[in-house]
Amino acid sequence: MTLIDTLNRDWQTRGLRFAEGPGGLAIAELTHEGASATVALHGAHVLSYVPAGAKPVLWLSKEAIFKDGKAIRGGIPVCWPWFADHPDEPNYPAHGVARTRSWKVVSTDSASLTLELQANEATREHFPHDFVLRLQATLGDALAIQLSVHNPGKSPFTYTGALHTYFAVSHIDQARAEGLDGRPYIDSIDGKTRKTQAGPIRFQEEVDRIYLETTDTCLVNDNGWDRTIRIAKEGSHSTVVWNPWIAKAQRMADFGDQEYQEMLCVETTNAADDAIAVPPGETHKLALTLSLA
Ligand code: BG6
Repeated sequence: MTLIDTLNRDWQTRGLRFAEGPGGLAIAELTHEGASATVALHGAHVLSYVPAGAKPVLWLSKEAIFKDGKAIRGGIPVCWPWFADHPDEPNYPAHGVARTRSWKVVSTDSASLTLELQANEATREHFPHDFVLRLQATLGDALAIQLSVHNPGKSPFTYTGALHTYFAVSHIDQARAEGLDGRPYIDSIDGKTRKTQAGPIRFQEEVDRIYLETTDTCLVNDNGWDRTIRIAKEGSHSTVVWNPWIAKAQRMADFGDQEYQEMLCVETTNAADDAIAVPPGETHKLALTLSLA
């Protein structure tokens, strides 16, 4: 019996089955009234979300690498237990360890599944704490994602992280991100200077910003495809907006040189000042709901 057969025998439901995805990775295929979504067990990584009759909401690079130990470029990587570079250890992997590990299925329901990652010897090398991460993905009229972070240990730990969502847009010139007007942000490409957002965010150069003090719903407005994506969240006081633009796109091996024109990231985060301390026995939940407005 293959891994896919075993997964289907144990977990298949109406609206959820397992299949072999790109690179031979096991993926869950969720369907609900014409909408679909796929989630790889590798990294608990949401790869696609297509509302009924619509174009894909999520962007996935044509150059993405689907391989054990590698992060997938596009979809929704789970960044954890640190966002971006590790604060003290420059050689640790960017965006933490969760996105490159294999998670296991712990429950399924109609068009819904929960994946889990627990601390092990390998994760302790970079993060010396016990933890239980659960990622629940539920497809309905929207795609709802919840990342819960439980501390089963005896001492508190602090982490940063993200549901690092890549959105597909018709063309970057036609797209803008809204919902952050008036919010302070750290400009990561201008020496981490603190600035204040004025109006919607348009993209005419590299953008890499950590917005702070925001629990707001964001919108991705796309004139080319005449659509608005709604990004609602809970358990987060920060939002990251990113487009690598030309030079950084060229530097990334798993990102096509022109692909910066087709995507932008609005990431639901616990980043920078929004680090989360989890006392022993407690759980923090970060939730994201994606829909077309
Ligand atoms: C974003 C960061 O969240 O992720 C960027 O703000 C970073 O600075 C980007 O370049 C992609 O990171 P990675 O590790 O997937 O290449």
